[in-house]
Amino acid sequence: MSELQPSSNNADVATLRSPPRHIAIIMDGNGRWAKARGLPRALGHKEGVEALRRAVEASRDLGVTHLSVYAFSTENWNRPQTEIDALFDLLRVFVRRDLARLHKDGVRIRIIGSRIGLSDDILSLIDEAMAKTKDNTRLTLNIAFNYGGRGEIVAAMQQMARAVEAGQLKSDQIDEAMVSRMVWSGESPDPDLVIRTSGELRLSNFLLWSGAYAELMFMDLWWPDFTRESLEKAIDAYRRRDRRFGGLGA
Ligand code: FPP
Repeated sequence: MSELQPSSNNADVATLRSPPRHIAIIMDGNGRWAKARGLPRALGHKEGVEALRRAVEASRDLGVTHLSVYAFSTENWNRPQTEIDALFDLLRVFVRRDLARLHKDGVRIRIIGSRIGLSDDILSLIDEAMAKTKDNTRLTLNIAFNYGGRGEIVAAMQQMARAVEAGQLKSDQIDEAMVSRMVWSGESPDPDLVIRTSGELRLSNFLLWSGAYAELMFMDLWWPDFTRESLEKAIDAYRRRDRRFGGLGA
């Protein structure tokens, strides 16, 4: 699988809409990419990191201000321990090797997800990367790691329930804007576009709250084959979409 065919709903929009500010990506197909080459799955993930580097660079160049990527879901704990270890090692390597360059390039790194179950060394790495890059403004890179969309809604509910119990919040003050701020991904605007590679047609528990009105794009290529051109094609297809947010549109 290598052909790029971004799905589109309507190419008949007279004026192109603005490019997406926030793109979220489900980086799927690393295992199948590796299998097709007779390689271990871990090598597919390693190649996936190269595709991630390309996506970050291309996003920055194309004026995307927020990029969210799904690197390890709370459901991924069900994979064999060797694969879990490989994914954790890739996060370590990515942060250690790329932090200085990303910082220099104005990238703010945010690792979004649950801290529960993560080892101390991973937690310090996450804290270091987020602290060092917190004032950067060119591109926010949200790496969803130990992330689940339902989990982030539950965590926000628990936080609000605690505030209600402590008398700091009244239940009728809770509204959508408050929940949007409290979810792990709440420092970024809602994603405009969610891309999933590998041809699977699911959200798999990714950005369930903030992605409520995102345009979805399913691309027939495995994540390690994702290039700058893939991102350009996705953005181009997005700009032809008619977004109505429940209204009647243009
Ligand atoms: C899904 O492909 C991909 C993942 C579960 C992991 C994605 C991770 C990376 C691209 C690299 C990690 C990056 C960092 C910074 C930690 P799959 O394994 O489910 O592929 P398959 O569906 O073909 O088996």
